[in-house]
Amino acid sequence: MRIGILGGTGPEGKGLAVRWAWAGEEVLIGSRDAGRAQQSAQEVLALCPGGKVRGALNSEVAQQGEIVVVAVPYQGHKETLTALRPALAGKILVDVVAPLAFSRGRAKALPVPEGSVAQQAQAVVPEARVVSAFHTISAHDLLTPPSPIECDVLVCADDAEAKKVVMALAEKIPGVRAVDANGLECSRYVEELVALLLNINRVYRGSRSMVRIVGLAGASSARP
Ligand SMILES: NC(=O)c1ccc[n+]([C@@H]2O[C@H](COP(=O)([O-])OP(=O)(O)OC[C@H]3O[C@@H](n4cnc5c(N)ncnc54)[C@H](OP(=O)(O)O)[C@@H]3O)[C@@H](O)[C@H]2O)c1
Repeated sequence: MRIGILGGTGPEGKGLAVRWAWAGEEVLIGSRDAGRAQQSAQEVLALCPGGKVRGALNSEVAQQGEIVVVAVPYQGHKETLTALRPALAGKILVDVVAPLAFSRGRAKALPVPEGSVAQQAQAVVPEARVVSAFHTISAHDLLTPPSPIECDVLVCADDAEAKKVVMALAEKIPGVRAVDANGLECSRYVEELVALLLNINRVYRGSRSMVRIVGLAGASSARP
C-alpha cells in the first residue's frame, strides 16, 4: 500500500512514516517544499534503513498516495485540502489534525464550524473517504521504532470499509490496538481529548500520556 503523508515533515507525519516503513509499506513524505520533503525522507530512512520512503511535494503525494494522511497544523488544514481536492477524490483520507491553540503553555481545543476537523475535511473534499485517527498517539513515541507503543488509537469514520483499512494500518504499529470510535461525528471528542492529554502532560512533567479504553466487550476487530 502506498501511503502519502501531507505535512509529513512534522514530527507526527514523520513518526507515522517511520512506523509504516518498518511494517514494509511504501511511504511518500509530503511538504510544501520539495527539499524539505527529501530531507525528512532521509531522516525517516535513518530510522528505518532500507525502507520504501521518499519525499515529494504535497501535490504529488496526494496524487500518488493510495491512502493519504493529512498531518498539517489545524491553521493550514482547510487550505491544504482545498488545493488538493481533485487528487484526493475517491481516496481514503486519514485526518490526524487536532484544532488546538496554546495560551500561557496550556492547550485549548478550538471550535470547528463543521463540528470537528475530520468533518471539515469531509466538507472540503466530499468525494474522499475521510477517517479520523491517530490523534492521541505521541509523535515522540512513534519516532522510536521498533519499540511498542502500548495505547489505543481511536478511529472514527462513516465509511465502514475505509475505517477497517485504517484500523488495520494502526495495528501495524507494535503495541497499538485500534478501537472503533463510531462515526465522524464522534471525532470532535477525540480531537478535544488531545488538549486534555497535553494539559495532563504539563502537570506530570516529562509525560507523554495516551489512552487505553477499558471495559470493551466483543472487540473482535481489536487486539485484546
Ligand atoms: N505532534 C504530535 O505528537 C501529534 C500527535 C497527534 C496528532 N498531531 C496532529 O498532527 C498534526 C501535525 O502535527 P506536527 O506536530 O507534526 O505539526 P507541525 O510540525 O507543526 O506541522 C507539520 C508540517 O505541516 C506543514 N505546515 C505547517 N504549517 C502549514 C500550513 N499553514 N499549511 C500547510 N502546511 C503547513 C509543515 O511542513 P512543510 O513546511 O514541510 O510543508 C510542517 O512540517 C497536527 O495537526 C497535530 O494536531 C500531532
